[in-house]
Amino acid sequence: MKRVDDFRLRFGKQELVPIVIGGMGVDISTADLALEAARLGGIGHISDAMVKTVADRRFNTKFVKEKLKLYKYNVENPDKSAVQFDLGQLAEATRLHVGKTMEAKRGPGMIFVNCMEKLTMNAPRETLRVRLATALDAGVDGITLAAGLHLGSFALIEDHPRFRDAKLGIIVSSLRALQLFLRKSARTNRLPDYVVVEGPLAGGHLGFGMDWAQYDLATIVAEIHAWLVAEKLDIPLIPAGGIFTGSDAVSFLENGAAAVQVATRFTVARECGLPEKVQQEYFKASEDKIVVNQISPTGYPMRMLTSSPAIGSGIRPNCEAYGYLLDANGSCAYVQAYNREVAAHPGARRVSVMDKTCLCTHMRNFDCWTCGHYTYRLKDTSRKLEDGNYEILSAEHIFKDYQFSTDNKIALPD
Ligand SMILES: Cc1cc2nc3c(=O)[nH]c(=O)nc-3n(C[C@H](O)[C@H](O)[C@H](O)COP(=O)(O)O)c2cc1C
Repeated sequence: MKRVDDFRLRFGKQELVPIVIGGMGVDISTADLALEAARLGGIGHISDAMVKTVADRRFNTKFVKEKLKLYKYNVENPDKSAVQFDLGQLAEATRLHVGKTMEAKRGPGMIFVNCMEKLTMNAPRETLRVRLATALDAGVDGITLAAGLHLGSFALIEDHPRFRDAKLGIIVSSLRALQLFLRKSARTNRLPDYVVVEGPLAGGHLGFGMDWAQYDLATIVAEIHAWLVAEKLDIPLIPAGGIFTGSDAVSFLENGAAAVQVATRFTVARECGLPEKVQQEYFKASEDKIVVNQISPTGYPMRMLTSSPAIGSGIRPNCEAYGYLLDANGSCAYVQAYNREVAAHPGARRVSVMDKTCLCTHMRNFDCWTCGHYTYRLKDTSRKLEDGNYEILSAEHIFKDYQFSTDNKIALPD
């Protein structure tokens, strides 16, 4: 019986353990987690979501405070279009976050950054260009284009000196999305170095509608694989979403996948950014406590624990400090929903907003407990302690369990 370690992900001459830890914003996939994946010979992701917040946390900078100071006058204003990102500061925060992570890298693996298009930041093209170009400047090994179609993203950096040497990949959830991306990027004369195929059981935002349960990862991977073969396109495919054991991974690797991308199992790793209190919520979750809902202002369905404090919370939008989801017109679906509730309840000290959530603030505070479908199986991956909590695992333990396990077994910590 084969195990993941019998396979290798190949980028030219470079060979890697075919395990990719997926990006988990806002700093859930920390630099420490990504560094462990790289040390062990796989690929780890950091995320550039809310990079100013992440930089402030890691390096004691004051990016968020300074932005809030600049736009404080607008806090009570329902119109957020005046709130802009300073591109120089955005670059500086990205340079710190990515650059310091790359400086700390040891071992034969790689570190990529997850860049979500849906972080439109009140100036989608300009801010995305800065994020992508600065990550390349800062020496990142690769960029995974996520949460969005990214039809113009390659063109934004085609003049960058590292455009052809860094690994650039994209996450898709259908053959159609991949075809569209390839068609729109054809002019840059550059194929992606890898394609992550994310199925409906993943954590975070889903590339499906609320009919997500009708789709199946293996079927989508097989369809994309067959099309690539027919087109004679040799692009490594990396399935993601619901790959919970080494044996799950092997079955994809035996069917043409070049690697697997996993995340949920690492949400209970010591190196993961979630506070331990939240990690215990993940451990203890039962299947009926995991929902896919539409409260994300991005418009994509998102999977989370039903006990997430973000659900129903009616806090005042915090765009003057954050503002990562403001679209090109300075608008966000949460701001609209909040303003509607305030208008409907004049004089109320607090409102509840059920249909949308202030994702920036709640992700920043680890109050939106997004998770993969199989979160309810995390309790089978650790030991229950006498106080009823579960033992937090090391990233190395989880990584090696994926790498070496057989027969659908999951190794418990020593
Ligand atoms: C807590 C959490 C946060 C996530 N955040 C992001 C994100 O910010 N961007 C992204 O592209 N994918 C995100 N994902 C998806 C993962 O990167 C990954 O593709 C997927 O969850 C793999 O499936 P698995 O969790 O079943 O292993 C997130 C997943 C989890 C569990």
